[in-house]
Formats: sequence, structure tokens, C-alpha cells
Amino acid sequence: MIFYFSATGNSEHVARSIAEANDDRLAYIPDLLTSGELSFDVSGEKMIGFVSPTYYWGLPTIVEDFLRRVELSFEERPYTFFVATYGTKNGAITQVAERILKDKGVDMDASYEVRMPDTWTPVFDLTNEENISKRVKTADEKLEEVMCQIASRSKGVFMKDRIPEFISKMFYSLYEKARRTENLTVEEHCTGCGRCAEFCPVHAIKMCDGRPEWTMDSCVMCLGCLHRCPSFAIQYGDKTKGHGQYINPHCPE
Ligand SMILES: Cc1cc2nc3c(=O)[nH]c(=O)nc-3n(C[C@H](O)[C@H](O)[C@H](O)COP(=O)(O)O)c2cc1C
Ligand code: SF4
Ligand code: SF4
Repeated sequence: MIFYFSATGNSEHVARSIAEANDDRLAYIPDLLTSGELSFDVSGEKMIGFVSPTYYWGLPTIVEDFLRRVELSFEERPYTFFVATYGTKNGAITQVAERILKDKGVDMDASYEVRMPDTWTPVFDLTNEENISKRVKTADEKLEEVMCQIASRSKGVFMKDRIPEFISKMFYSLYEKARRTENLTVEEHCTGCGRCAEFCPVHAIKMCDGRPEWTMDSCVMCLGCLHRCPSFAIQYGDKTKGHGQYINPHCPE
């Protein structure tokens, strides 16, 4: 069983590829949190996989919330692993996930990383299609390698872009301010299609008089609303407009 979160398709592609290669099932974390389905008997499962993007060198709040709340019961624990997708450095995401799971009696057998285009467009520019294609191609090669390691039930930490947790914590503390919804704005040309509200994994957007409004002070800040808006009408600060939109090419909507 592969649990995953994804806003722009990078982690979805990884999770889907692993599930398909192993004829295993996928579970989308926001759906599980919305439905309250958080107890799983995983005794007969082939594997327990977690796939998540890295946010501020740590876990997206929605994934941390899920890991803290999920209950996994088993007689013999299936092969258990975490795959972090990321754009530059994945910090301590797997160390944090490992600790949360260990505290509830679930040991991690392996941690993997797959570097992808960086969807944090308040900083990174995703307008160069050639660069994106190259990065996606390299990611696909890396994913093949990770899938072979999973198939052979490799054990260990297979990551070169980790950062010690005590350093990562400092950067992670900035996520709190960055994920305030007041950072998101809607431009005049919004058509009122409602796609952003429909997508939001934590239901933080409501349509009011044909325009999105944020109903929470903070969200996951996954940028799914920004990258998936058909009119590119949602922005975060003054850089995102010039940095483009992105959805992993293997996961078109
Ligand atoms: C709020 C936010 C913070 C991010 N922080 C990091 C980071 O600290 N390090 C990094 O390498 N990538 C970072 N990224 C990039 C994503 O981890 C990366 O692009 C990931 O593959 C996106 O996955 P998805 O397409 O499945 O949503 C960040 C992206 C967002 C939206
Ligand atoms: S997805 Fe874009 S165009 Fe559609 S309602 Fe949201 S902001 Fe407006
Ligand atoms: S409001 Fe936008 S950025 Fe925030 S969680 Fe929802 S989709 Fe993601």
C-alpha cells in the first residue's frame, strides 16, 4: 500500500509508478484525512510506502498530520519505506518521518530520494522547458533505480541530499510564516471556474461571488491552486507570475 501526497504531480508520478510496478494500491493522504479512514491492518500488504514532496527541508503539514494520526496494525511488518521528492535539498524530511513512525512502533526499512523540478516558484523559475525536460528525464532514471531497490527490498538510507535535523529545523521554522494564506492573491482575470477550490487538499478555498476566498489563516501552501489554475490567476508574492506554472508531465490533469 502506497500512501502519498502530491500537489503538482511529482510525488504522484513516483507513487503511481511504484504501485503499478508492484501491482499495489495507492492511497491519497488528503482523501484519507477528509474521510477519517486512518486505521489500516497492513498484515497482508506487499509493502508500506510513503511518498511526499519536501517542504522547507521537512514534511508538508498535511503529511505530518497524517503520520501522527494513522494507525497501522500488523503481525509481521511488511517492507516499509519513504520516498522524498524535492527540488534542491530534502533536509530532514525522512528523519522526521522515521521518528514519528518509530514512536508508534513502525520501523522504516529504507529512505529514498528523487530530485524533481522545484515547484516553489516564489523562488525558482520554471519557465525554461528544456531545463524542466532534462530534470524530469533524470528523475525518471532515478525513479527506475529506486524501484529496483524497492523490488530487491533494499535496506538503508539511500539519500545524498539530506541535511542534519538540527540544521533543517531552523529552515523548517520559516514554513510557518510562508504558509499563511494572506501570501496568496487572485488577479482580476480569474474566470471563477472553481478549479482551485475543488483541488485544495485542505479545503481552504471557498468560492464567493465567483472568486476564490481563503477561509483559513494558514494552509499547506502546496501551491496546487497556483499551478493548476487554468488562467494562472493565483500568485504568491511578486515573483511567481514570471516563474510560470508546472505540473509533472506524467500526471496531466
Ligand atoms: C511550500 C513548498 C516548499 C518547498 N520546499 C522545498 C525544500 O525545502 N527543498 C526542496 O528541495 N524542494 C522544496 N520544494 C519543492 C518540492 O518539494 C518539489 O518540487 C516536489 O517534487 C513537489 O512535489 P509534488 O509535485 O508532488 O507536489 C518546495 C515546494 C513547496 C510548494
Ligand atoms: S482556478 Fe483560477 S480562474 Fe478558476 S476560480 Fe480559481 S483563481 Fe479563478
Ligand atoms: S490554498 Fe492553495 S496552496 Fe493552500 S493548501 Fe490549498 S491548494 Fe495548496
